[in-house]
Amino acid sequence: MRGQDSSRRLISRQVWGVVVVALLLVTTTVAVAQMADRRVPQLSGNIDPMQDVDPGYFPKWVVDDQRRMRAYPEQPPIIPHSIEGYQLTVNANRCLSCHKREFTEISGAPMISVTHFMTRRAQMLADVAPRRYFCTACHVPQADIKPLVENTFKDMSELGFRPTGSEQ
Ligand code: HEC
Ligand code: HEC
Repeated sequence: MRGQDSSRRLISRQVWGVVVVALLLVTTTVAVAQMADRRVPQLSGNIDPMQDVDPGYFPKWVVDDQRRMRAYPEQPPIIPHSIEGYQLTVNANRCLSCHKREFTEISGAPMISVTHFMTRRAQMLADVAPRRYFCTACHVPQADIKPLVENTFKDMSELGFRPTGSEQ
C-alpha cells in the first residue's frame, strides 16, 4: 500500500499548493485595494473626477520685454516676451528667425551667445549647435504666480564675497 500512500501525499500537497496560492491572491488584492484607497492627492486635488471644478486663477505670462537679471552667471536667461504659437520643430525654429547672428540686426534681439555655437567637445560651428537647437529645453517664460514652495535662494552677491576691484 506504499503506492497509495505516496499518491495521497501528492494530492494533499497539491491541495495545499492551491490553498497557498489562493491566500496570496486574496492578500495582494486586499493590499492593492487599500493602496488605491490611500492615493497621494493629485495635483488637481482630491476631487471626484466626474465633478465640475472651478479652475481658479489663470496665471498670466510675463511679456513686458524687460530682460531680467540672471540669478547666477550661467543661468539661461528667461524669455521676457510671448512665445505663443512659435513653431519649434526639427524643420522650423521660430526663435532663430530673430536670435540667429545673421538676423539680430533686423530683429533687435540679443544674439544667441558663443556657447550656443559650441559642440560638447568645444568645437565652434558656423551655426547653432544641435544641442542648443531646442531653445525651450533651457529658456522658459515666467508666469506671474506665487511660488508653490518657499524659496531660500540667496544671490551670491549677498553671501559676503568682495567684488573684483574693491580690494585696496
Ligand atoms: C520676433 C522676434 C523674436 C522671436 C521670434 C523670439 N524672440 Fe526672444 N527676444 C526678442 C527680443 C527683441 C528680445 C529682447 C527683449 C524683448 O524685447 O523682449 C528677446 C529676448 C529673449 C531672451 C532674453 C535674453 C536676455 O538676455 O535676457 C530670451 C531667453 C529669448 N528671447 C528666447 C527666445 C526663444 C526661446 C524664442 C523662441 C521660442 C524666442 N526668443 C523668439 C525677439 C524674438
Ligand atoms: C542647453 C541649454 C540651452 C539651450 C538649448 C539654449 N540655450 Fe540659450 N542660453 C543658455 C545659457 C546657459 C545661457 C547663458 C550663458 C551663455 O550665454 O551661454 C544662454 C544665453 C542665451 C541668450 C543671451 C545671450 C546673451 O549674450 O545675453 C539668448 C538670447 C539665448 N540664450 C537664446 C537662445 C535661443 C534662441 C536658443 C534656441 C536656438 C537657445 N538659447 C538654446 C542655455 C541654452
